[in-house]
Order: sequence, then C-alpha cells, then structure tokens
Amino acid sequence: MKIVLYPDPNLLQEAAPVEEFDSELREKVEEMFPLMYEAKGCGLAAPQVAWLLRVFIVNLAGEAGKGEEKAYVNPRIVEKRGTVVAEEGCLSIPGVTGPVRRASWVRIEASDLAGKTFQEESTSELHARVLQHELDHLNGILFVSKVVPSQQKLILKKLREMREGVPAGRA
Ligand code: CO
Repeated sequence: MKIVLYPDPNLLQEAAPVEEFDSELREKVEEMFPLMYEAKGCGLAAPQVAWLLRVFIVNLAGEAGKGEEKAYVNPRIVEKRGTVVAEEGCLSIPGVTGPVRRASWVRIEASDLAGKTFQEESTSELHARVLQHELDHLNGILFVSKVVPSQQKLILKKLREMREGVPAGRA
C-alpha cells in the first residue's frame, strides 16, 4: 500500500460504501496510519491508497502515539455551520496549497470499524476542515477544485506541471 499522487485516476472516482466490517477492513485501515504519519498528514482517505471504499482516517496530532486515531466508515455530514477560508493541502498533491472555503463546524455520522454508528461534532476549525476534505476524497473531489477563484489560475498551472512531470515552481 502506498499513497497515490495526482493525477492518479483513483483520486477522481467515487468510492463504494463498505458492506463488510471484517478483518480485512481493519487490517487495511491499520496500514493507512503509518503511511499518513510518514507523509506528515493528519487525514488520509482510502482512495489515496488506491482503495475505492468509503473510509478515511484522522489523527489531528499527525504523529504516532499522540492525539487520537479515528476511522470513519461510510461517513456523511449531517449538519454544518459557518464558513471559513484557510490554506489547504493534500498528501496526494505534494507541494500545492491554496485557500479553500469550508464550513467552520460540522457534525458527522459514520460507522466505526466494527460497524457501529456514531456521531461526532468537530472540535476546531481544523478538525471540521479535515473531515470535509477527507469526505470529499470519497466522492472523487480534490481540494484544488474548491480553491477560491482568485487563486484558481495558479493552482491550474501547478496541476498542469504535475501532469506533465515538470516540478512545480519551475518554468
Ligand atoms: Co487530501
């Protein structure tokens, strides 16, 4: 398992709901955490490891042994409030960041790895942002498509460079 990078087609597809809460699900989720830490991220969605199921993981501390590790299976946002613009990036689009408008607070409903439904309210703007960003991945949506209009041209240029294999920042 490895993190796939833009323009990998897995990143642009809608992921399928999880139906079996089995050991394979738990094992694959366990494999995702070290990959996320290695890449210095605080959220990682299954399509980012070429696994097209509706699963993502979060640890806001972004470090093994710190914070809380959580897995969200078949998640949906059931309530949201406020808006806030902040700089965002993605482990699958290294070197590219841009300002994205998101709800500042969300309530999410998901299943845990045992198939038990839970609800969670975001505890910070960052937490709300990560939940929304990871949920977008399950629908094949990347943050770059949501960057505020004034920055879109620059983002499109960087993406084109990535597709063409030219390092971002060079001619
Ligand atoms: Co991402």
